[in-house]
Amino acid sequence: MPINAIILAAGEGTRMRSAHPKVCHKLLGKPLVWWPVHAARTAGCERIIVVVGHGADEVRAALANEPDIEFVEQSERRGTGHAIRCVRDAVGAFEGPTVVLYGDTPLVRPETIAGLVDETRAHHNACTILTFEPDDPSGYGRILRDGDGGLQGIVEDKDCTPEQRDGLFECNSGIYCFCGRRLTANIDKIQADNAQREYYITDMVGIYRDMGEPVSSLLADDADELLGVNSRLQLAQASYVMQDRINARLMDEGVTMLDPALVWVGPEVSVGRDTEILPLTMLWGETSIGEGCTIGPNTRLTDTRVGNACTVDETVAQEAVLENNVSCGPRAYLRPGTHLLDNAKAGTHVEIKNSTIGKGSKVPHLSYIGDTTMGSGVNIGAGSITCNYDGVDKHRTTIGDDVFVGSDTMMVAPVSIGDGALIGASSCITRDIPAGALALERSEQRIVEGYAVERLERLKARKKGKR
Ligand code: UD1
Ligand code: CA
Repeated sequence: MPINAIILAAGEGTRMRSAHPKVCHKLLGKPLVWWPVHAARTAGCERIIVVVGHGADEVRAALANEPDIEFVEQSERRGTGHAIRCVRDAVGAFEGPTVVLYGDTPLVRPETIAGLVDETRAHHNACTILTFEPDDPSGYGRILRDGDGGLQGIVEDKDCTPEQRDGLFECNSGIYCFCGRRLTANIDKIQADNAQREYYITDMVGIYRDMGEPVSSLLADDADELLGVNSRLQLAQASYVMQDRINARLMDEGVTMLDPALVWVGPEVSVGRDTEILPLTMLWGETSIGEGCTIGPNTRLTDTRVGNACTVDETVAQEAVLENNVSCGPRAYLRPGTHLLDNAKAGTHVEIKNSTIGKGSKVPHLSYIGDTTMGSGVNIGAGSITCNYDGVDKHRTTIGDDVFVGSDTMMVAPVSIGDGALIGASSCITRDIPAGALALERSEQRIVEGYAVERLERLKARKKGKR
């Protein structure tokens, strides 16, 4: 029987005080709702249903890159139980183990979800709930037990008596595995007779108990895994936990970090061994880094591929590709479509966009290279730029192999520079240059002997005369 997962993400998240739905806020570069979706899939859930409502379009967009997700709209938010009812009404009865997760609980591990499914199957439970004992139980639903320790029900924080609020430490994580068939059959029994006038999914536990259906709980040993994000403070706390987890894994795989508290790496990033990541580095999206590189300090790479033995110092790069032994920065900006081939260099205060820099070619200082195809062994002098935009259209610059471009050269595209050509410093190049030629575009230098000294004396004398 395939495993279903229902992820509840329709709430507004008022405690975030935000114009955006809570589950779209990012944790290490990924929206909150992405995390439980991903954990459920990794745990083996085949059918994934996400309940959206508040800011539905934004939540759908946040998951646009995820394949095979069914969205169900909960147009009125009348509680977590009501959200499950909306799913039943939209897709019909479900069969098989049905995991319910909240979109604001991003740290849950796939193994934990799989354990819950196994427990449900082994005991033919109508429901198994995952409980935990957080340092601070306030805000969470509390687990009620009878004299023998049997599961009796869940009481929401807002519905607790003062004794329950101060005396019960075991909390509901908001992660459950239901038997789909029995959930479909009994979901309508939930009533909204509570402080918030909402239909609580948590009431299913008491309902099943009264029916004599088997329910049980698993106590998670790592409370951090079940942190719910209701506020910006909890978002920061969740980020710390996930940052620790990812960085510990990377270090375990052979990555060095001078200070792991100052390195932020997204969940889909890979880093090869013997690479060192220096402080204030962020690696986002589908970035991959090879072996033996030094990345950072002060670097942000998004969807960027870096080969082996590269040095990436104080660099911002997006959708760029760096082959092996490439060096960039300090202070390089590599925009989409940048491709640095082996041994190439993008130095300090250099911006490159939609361009290939050939093998061993160097753009060391203060340059802008856009829409350019550059051969190998090229040297671009300091301050040289491609003028790729005429105010309406972008144009390409082609530079052959072993070209030497003098400092402060403007290459006005479209323009082509042949292999082995030489451009004199400070030239404005507007016409193609044949292979092996010298191009020089500057006025003759004049020398006027003694002029500077005479001028200074003249100015001083004038100032004296005015006093
Ligand atoms: C919920 C649980 C509580 C548990 C805690 C764990 C209920 C009634 N309470 O409380 O026992 O300890 O999570 O973090 O379930 N949502 C919808 N539709 C709705 C209402 C909520 O999709 O009509 C979604 C929200 O977007 C959110 C999730 O369900 O992702 C949980 O809702 P939230 O209001 O945060 O519940 P808590 O008060 O945290
Ligand atoms: Ca919550």
